[in-house]
Amino acid sequence: MSVQAKRRADYQPPAFSIATVDLHITLHPTETKVVSTLAIARNGAHNAPLVLDGDGLELNAIAVNGEALSEEFYTLGDNTLSINSELDTFELVITTTIAPEHNKALEGLYLSGGAYCTQCEAEGFRRITYFMDRPDVLSVYTVTVVADKSIPMLLANGNPVDKGDIGASSHFVKWHDPHPKPCYLFALVAGDFDLLTDSYTTSSGKEVALELYVDKGKKSQGVFALESLKRAMKWDEDVFGLEYDLDIYMIVAVDFFNMGAMENKGLNVFNSKFVLADQESATDDDFFNVESVIAHEYFHNWTGNRVTCRDWFQLSLKEGLTVFRDQQFSADMTSALSNRIKHVRVMREHQFAEDASAMSHPIRPEEVIEMNNFYTVTVYDKGAEVIRMFHTLLGPDGFRRGMDEYFKRHDGQAVTCDDFISAMQSATDLDLTQFARWYSQSGTPVISVEHKIQNDDNDDVIHTFTLSQHTPATSDQSEKESLYIPVNIEIIDDEGNTYTDNESMIQNGMVILNAPSMSFTVNAENASLTPVVLGNFSAPAKVENPLDTASLLTIFKYAKDPFNRWDAMQTLYDRCIKQIEDAPGCAISNDIWEGIKQAIAQEQSNLELLGECLVTPSFETLCQSRSNINVSALSKARKAFCDQFAQALEQELLQVFNNIDAASYSYTQDAVNQRRCKNVVLAHLARLPQHEGAIVAQFDAADNMTDTLGALRSAQHCNSATFDTLMARFEATWNHDPLVLDKWFALHATQNRDDIFATITMLCEHPQFAMSNPNRVRSVIGSFAFYNSERFHALDGSGYKFVTDYLLKLDAVNPQVAARIVTPLTQWQGFANEHQVLMKQQLGRLLNHKGLSKDVFEKVSKSLA
Ligand code: PHE
Ligand code: ZN
Repeated sequence: MSVQAKRRADYQPPAFSIATVDLHITLHPTETKVVSTLAIARNGAHNAPLVLDGDGLELNAIAVNGEALSEEFYTLGDNTLSINSELDTFELVITTTIAPEHNKALEGLYLSGGAYCTQCEAEGFRRITYFMDRPDVLSVYTVTVVADKSIPMLLANGNPVDKGDIGASSHFVKWHDPHPKPCYLFALVAGDFDLLTDSYTTSSGKEVALELYVDKGKKSQGVFALESLKRAMKWDEDVFGLEYDLDIYMIVAVDFFNMGAMENKGLNVFNSKFVLADQESATDDDFFNVESVIAHEYFHNWTGNRVTCRDWFQLSLKEGLTVFRDQQFSADMTSALSNRIKHVRVMREHQFAEDASAMSHPIRPEEVIEMNNFYTVTVYDKGAEVIRMFHTLLGPDGFRRGMDEYFKRHDGQAVTCDDFISAMQSATDLDLTQFARWYSQSGTPVISVEHKIQNDDNDDVIHTFTLSQHTPATSDQSEKESLYIPVNIEIIDDEGNTYTDNESMIQNGMVILNAPSMSFTVNAENASLTPVVLGNFSAPAKVENPLDTASLLTIFKYAKDPFNRWDAMQTLYDRCIKQIEDAPGCAISNDIWEGIKQAIAQEQSNLELLGECLVTPSFETLCQSRSNINVSALSKARKAFCDQFAQALEQELLQVFNNIDAASYSYTQDAVNQRRCKNVVLAHLARLPQHEGAIVAQFDAADNMTDTLGALRSAQHCNSATFDTLMARFEATWNHDPLVLDKWFALHATQNRDDIFATITMLCEHPQFAMSNPNRVRSVIGSFAFYNSERFHALDGSGYKFVTDYLLKLDAVNPQVAARIVTPLTQWQGFANEHQVLMKQQLGRLLNHKGLSKDVFEKVSKSLA
């Protein structure tokens, strides 16, 4: 395959601008007609042709200034249309035809579940009409949507300005969006929906109509999303002084969607999974996700839409910043601690893995083949961690001043990450030059901690702490430089006293590590000191801090920041699992169980922290502190640890479980914490056969999906007959609701059972399953590849082969989804050689496949390079 990578360094400003776009779209399943009228102007003096992007379009007509353009004045390339005109300004009218019904890739205009829907980010607009499909071409859009009257609702961006009938059977609605925008923010939706309406009055008194469109019959499941939207609107006014800027804000929930949701101006399109929620069908996590995704898309209205990206290499400009904003919002709406833990888990499970793989890239990538492959945990989540570090360094007020300056300078523009850094620089005396390396350097820095104890001349005891940083080479960059790292730090003794350093390097609980290493000293008589390093995950880094288990338990007892206490327990568990890996069959010593018992006793009334502290690190997290992994050995060690955990702590766990009353359901933070803790404990108890009854009892009594699913997850550890019975009952209840059934699909696909492939094959034949629906594919095949580590990594190669066989078929239908699910196969670097050989064999099959998409090609070829 010959595909050309694009490089950030090659950016050229657009040769033309397009002030206005007038689209006239007549919908039809196989012959949708698009008439696009563009006001073109040459930028500066040059005589280059106007080159428009197009993909899969049938060209019907071209006219310049009202006259049909004859063939010698344009060239039709594979994916371009070039217009050779000497005019500096002209009106260009292009007519094309597309077939939304045949569009299974879900990019551009597609028809699914009876509704028309568009998805233009990143480069989907070129599948609707010929255009300069790049984010730095900003235009004012007027859109007329025409359809058969059987399709009653016709939506596009901005405000409706006209509507009427066309003949007896058709009708139209005309929309105008006054805010200039790049084409990736264009949207059109047409269908027959249930509509929820509401309104919001902005802080300056403007009334905004809110409209939420859902599938017929799902109205009551949209209420929470609409309430979340209002909370997000209020929060952005309170925290950033940002108000909404149109008269109407619409959200449409669709069942077929490649991603979570899309921030199209005034007309967000959502995967229905992030809109629909009620007590019976949605878990607490689902509610949380709905609120945070609703907020995320809303926040894009300023960070993304009003100020957009100059080119796609700058994606983190809008995504890292908007993820940070939604994280802050969620922390304010729910709990700072559980949010931080959630997001740190994502970093450790997925982002560290990406940075250790052949797909490693800086948050601002340098080179891209298929842009869809760069909507990554690095650009999004590590990007948000980098924004969080600005926030940490500048403080909330400084960060706000920087944001104000960013909007003052760039409202209405398409800008770069450097523009953002420079706005932040204007709000601080710190020099951010070195800090900016976080944008250009990939890889996970490792901070090592060294602790030396000496007596000085006066016989005082001096503790010298040295922090060093090192970023291992990544596949994309062999040389690494020192980063500017804010390292949150606490020095405590084993009675919980805190210490300051002699050099005052620790300021506000933070040292700056901006050289290969730095040291500071602490005087302490008769005390053993413990350094708590990288508290609150103050930078996206790993820490090597050789603490013994006693020190880890000291941190748990006394660290000020509850996050650090959770983190110490995670490290402790990781150590224990390592011990079992090194000596299979060994028993964890009693002092550790005693320490954990004390911890449980200490936190009995703090169910939030307790619940989190009782979660053992996932297999995926454990992988990030190991190399040369033998999957079955690590899984066995993890399982052995969990089994010992349940046995050693049975009485304490039972007590926690029994002390949590099953109050009637509400989605409030206290109730969420209770359910979370109870279900974490139940999953431990499930490893002891005598507690099977508790699982079945919870399943029988549950009046909400969190507890139902908690019981089912726990049942994964029970004997298979119990699991099968509960699963069959669940299916009988939820067979009609594919979004709920996704949970059932995922539970089946993550079972460690000999008949796993028969099970998955059965799931793929389930009446509710369709390869064309990304949610279904993710919950069956995605869950298997990402989370069924033992079966996916089976040493007979069957898991790798099964996924590859599936991807070969899926790639022809939906390359974007195929390229996501190939990820675990490309992350072979951390595994033992036996695994690597088998994984590469399957990657080779993909690479040799004729007609492979460039999405999958990019990831597979990089990982085999
Ligand atoms: N821009 C969307 C978001 O993060 C994500 C997205 C990207 C959706 C590409 C669809 C296609 O909010
Ligand atoms: Zn986003």
